[in-house]
Amino acid sequence: MQKSAIWMGSAFGIALAISVAVLALQGAGNSGTRLALEIAARWSFLLFFLAYARGAIANLFSIEQLAGRGREFGLAFAAAHLVHVGLVIWLGITLGRVPLSGGLLLFFLVALFATYLLAGFSFGGVKTIGPTAWRWIRFLGMNYILIAFARDFVLPVLHPKPSQINLGHYLFYAPFMVLCFAAPLLTMLASRRSREQVPIA
Ligand code: HEM
Repeated sequence: MQKSAIWMGSAFGIALAISVAVLALQGAGNSGTRLALEIAARWSFLLFFLAYARGAIANLFSIEQLAGRGREFGLAFAAAHLVHVGLVIWLGITLGRVPLSGGLLLFFLVALFATYLLAGFSFGGVKTIGPTAWRWIRFLGMNYILIAFARDFVLPVLHPKPSQINLGHYLFYAPFMVLCFAAPLLTMLASRRSREQVPIA
């Protein structure tokens, strides 16, 4: 079996197992499905974070095993996030309407489109569009998806509802908020370090 298929299957399987466990424990109604969405989204995010920042982490902290695994982490994220799509559809069925609306719906649909566009291109499409176009599409797509995650992880920390002001809420959001800021910062630090290491001819 191809290496990428193993990564995708494992990431999807873990996301599915998390969701089934939450739905079994909390029920498949509105609050159980929302909790499953929240926990499975954190698993997707960890894979996305590694797709985004693994090169920088490998460079800055000399972790060889992470270098050159961007495609695998990216495809694993896209596969795990299919469970998010499934849970959103299930939530829509239980609510009898699309769970988000207006600008927010469009904003997340664009992030979803970017996710599967990048995944699609990684199956040979890069050769068709060329490396420069691919770098730009990857840069714009990855940062848009990062902003979509940040919207969900940062706002609840900065503007919690009165009922959310408790330690559990902050522990559930703050580590992911920190990673949202860490991803571009690590990338910038690593590229600065690489530039400084280029020998002057
Ligand atoms: C790449 C695209 C997407 C990303 C990165 C994303 C990210 C997330 C994250 C991080 C959460 C957890 C929020 C929390 O813990 O409070 C979440 C939950 C959720 N997402 Fe998404 N999402 C995406 C696409 C979508 C789409 C297209 C829809 C709807 C059509 C959607 C609907 C929801 C809903 C209803 C929840 C549950 C929110 C709640 O707790 O009430 N998501 N999403």
